[in-house]
Amino acid sequence: MDINQVKKVRIPFGEGIVGTVAISKEPLLITDVKESEYFSPKMDQLTGFVTKSIIAVPIIYQNEPIGVIELINKDESDSFGQQELDILRTIADFSAIAIMNSHNYQQLCSEIEKRKQIEKEMVAQHETMLDISRRAGMADVATSMLHNVGNILNSANVSVDIMNDNINNKNLDRLLNIQTIIETHSNDINSYLTDDEKGKLIPKYLASLIPRVIEIHDIIKKENGNLMRFLQHIRQIIAVENEVAGTTEMKRKVFIPDLFDNAIVLCFPSNEKNTIEIVKNYNIESLINTDKVKLLQILINLIKNSRESLLSLEDNRHKKITLSCTVIDAEHVELTVMDNGRGIAPEVLKKMFTFGFTTKVNGHGYGMHNSYLAAKALGGSLSVSSDGVGCGAKFTLTIMNQPVD
Ligand SMILES: Nc1ncnc2c1ncn2[C@@H]1O[C@H](COP(=O)(O)OP(=O)(O)OP(=O)(O)O)[C@@H](O)[C@H]1O
Ligand SMILES: [Mg+2]
Repeated sequence: MDINQVKKVRIPFGEGIVGTVAISKEPLLITDVKESEYFSPKMDQLTGFVTKSIIAVPIIYQNEPIGVIELINKDESDSFGQQELDILRTIADFSAIAIMNSHNYQQLCSEIEKRKQIEKEMVAQHETMLDISRRAGMADVATSMLHNVGNILNSANVSVDIMNDNINNKNLDRLLNIQTIIETHSNDINSYLTDDEKGKLIPKYLASLIPRVIEIHDIIKKENGNLMRFLQHIRQIIAVENEVAGTTEMKRKVFIPDLFDNAIVLCFPSNEKNTIEIVKNYNIESLINTDKVKLLQILINLIKNSRESLLSLEDNRHKKITLSCTVIDAEHVELTVMDNGRGIAPEVLKKMFTFGFTTKVNGHGYGMHNSYLAAKALGGSLSVSSDGVGCGAKFTLTIMNQPVD
């Protein structure tokens, strides 16, 4: 008999001996197929084989038929009996377990494959999210940088205008005129200064001009100093930006006092530091593992808000921002930004972290909402307290000292 030919033949469920056994879930022992109503001669007709006796046992797993074992023709002289049936039943029982084990194993393998694929997709999605959030952080830092460089350039322009006005001062021209007069009278300078009516005025005039020239010199010197400071500040801002832009890893070892100082560089125009005192209570000596860009983004938002609150005051109080950082335990670090500015009313406190909430004419209401989310992403939290309008505000940020992956 050609086995390959037999393999291709399909007998419908319920037809023939195998089909009947599968449906009834009961074994069949047929000593002479010619006598059996269940026998289907299809296979014999196809293969030319002559079937005489058959023994067929269902393979059952959890009360469901998953196959049938069929033996055909014991030998020429004899047919199958009860003994073979019992042996075949035992084989069928073991086969059921073996088949289901193999089936479960295959399912398990494909389940593992599926999970691996899902995990891969999740990692890719997570990376995309991290990238988006990192870009958002960078955009925040870049916006602060541009805003600040713009402010500095405005101040630098004012300095340049003041210097120009003073360089073109008429008093300097007058001094040059006197120099020309003195040169033309170089032969009779003594008599010109003592006897000539015009000449007699020159020493007095020079004496009155000198303080003015000194004043012009001082102004130019001062503005020149300002310009140097402005350039220095722009250099610092670019240095911060370069450092942050080079941050490719999410987690980095960060020295928080340096990050606070970077945020100050990005938040304050250089000529404004005198009007707001910045007190630094930095109590951290070690490096902290955290997302540098996110943390800088939060600090910028907090310091910017404190600065805006102080600058909006109409009274003449001494304006102060106090920055602090402390290690709480091996895993937690606390940073605070406190100001003695306009304070926050209790009803405003409740809305502080709501997206789009602002009390400022040109505000967006993004800063605190974004900072709140960023604090969570750093494994920490952001909270605010204020004793009310006029009483300043204090923001407390807790972050995790996260292990480096
Ligand atoms: N230090 C602070 N003192 C007083 N009020 C504050 C302080 N920080 C935040 N606020 C209040 O919280 C509101 C929300 O702040 P948030 O930074 O989210 O938005 P914004 O500063 O108004 O605008 P932007 O999104 O441009 O920063 C502010 O409009 C202000 O009323
Ligand atoms: Mg803000």
